[in-house]
Amino acid sequence: MTLRYGIIGSGMMGQEHIRNIALLDGARVAAIADPNLPMARAAQELAGAEACASYLTHEEMLAAGGLDAVVIAAPNHLHLPILEDVLKTDMPVLCEKPLGLTDAECARIESLQSRRKAPLWVAMEYRYMPAIARLIEEVGKGTAGTVQMLSIREHRFPFLPKVGDWNRFNAQTGGTLVEKCCHFFDLMRLILKSEPIRVYASGNIDVNFLEEDYLGRKPDVIDNAYVIVDFASGARAMLDLCMFAEGSYWQEVVSATGDLARVDARLPGPARFNPDGEERASQILISPRMKRDFRREDIQIDHAIASAGDHHGSTFFQHQRFAEMLRNGGAPDVSVRDGRIAVAVGAAAEESARTGQAVVLPQFTKESAVA
Ligand SMILES: NC(=O)c1ccc[n+]([C@@H]2O[C@H](COP(=O)([O-])OP(=O)(O)OC[C@H]3O[C@@H](n4cnc5c(N)ncnc54)[C@H](O)[C@@H]3O)[C@@H](O)[C@H]2O)c1
Repeated sequence: MTLRYGIIGSGMMGQEHIRNIALLDGARVAAIADPNLPMARAAQELAGAEACASYLTHEEMLAAGGLDAVVIAAPNHLHLPILEDVLKTDMPVLCEKPLGLTDAECARIESLQSRRKAPLWVAMEYRYMPAIARLIEEVGKGTAGTVQMLSIREHRFPFLPKVGDWNRFNAQTGGTLVEKCCHFFDLMRLILKSEPIRVYASGNIDVNFLEEDYLGRKPDVIDNAYVIVDFASGARAMLDLCMFAEGSYWQEVVSATGDLARVDARLPGPARFNPDGEERASQILISPRMKRDFRREDIQIDHAIASAGDHHGSTFFQHQRFAEMLRNGGAPDVSVRDGRIAVAVGAAAEESARTGQAVVLPQFTKESAVA
């Protein structure tokens, strides 16, 4: 059976989904919904115009039917209003991160989802980047011992231009620490297998977009921050974010350090921003405390998969798992609760950066079990 996908929001990420669905066996994009005609046309072309319907709104797409699953890749502030309608159907859904802008929005989505049987999967591509998946595996099998410290450094390019400039404003993104960094707070939980209890952040908008003006509105999204997260287990994690560091050789470096060893994953930025346009290999490094058996490996990714997006093939690997769930049943890898907690940590970090105070997270994060 060929799985038929509908894509809501066919901009940069929607088109990455379309390219990756095209690489799956027995799957195709049958419809897109996007009010921006140039984006809709480009996406329809990519999906194969004759086989892909195009709608201006998600309501029209849902009314037309004929789909097996829906992918939501519209701007962050539209996730909740779109989900209000999509979750009335019995279709499986893959919704881009962040699930919502705030914990209150995510709580509403959790409540809507609790009334239906079909799965809602929150797209967290970083989990599926091969170097990060390998670090998760190594930590899981005890290579580092008990991890006490987890550091995630992302030094990257500024936010790209977007349709309607939605990513310049906290009101539409939830703030950088929600929009971009929910990925990292999700990884922290997954790697440490514990729940976050307290967050302190220092951050500001210091370099990017200072000259930009949108009809009198100035961009207000943080472009650099340090965030410290304490976990219930006693482990601590830190995010070091800089968004004016596009020259960095490694875009992300994740280091998990325990009583036996340190495990590092190093990932370069998207190949299309490299001067030669070539994909660079990610690396995994294992450094035991006794300095014996140091290991460093390059992680190779199939070229067709790596070049279908900006995320080291992770969108493809996530779609493989999502399609497996559509065919065979089972629960999403990334639940609504996972998506909600990632947003709660990001929103707490935004609040901490504004107030200068540490923020204690809501009790629900302590109760929740990390898969
Ligand atoms: N997981 C990742 O690594 C990753 C990377 C990039 C973006 N994203 C997420 O994907 C989403 C989209 O980001 P993007 O970078 O593609 O932005 P974008 O601006 O390139 O694309 C958004 C698209 O949504 C369309 N849109 C606007 N209103 C809509 C509506 N009511 N219904 C349907 N479509 C609508 C816009 O016209 C545009 O084409 C965001 O939630 C973002 O956070 C995730």
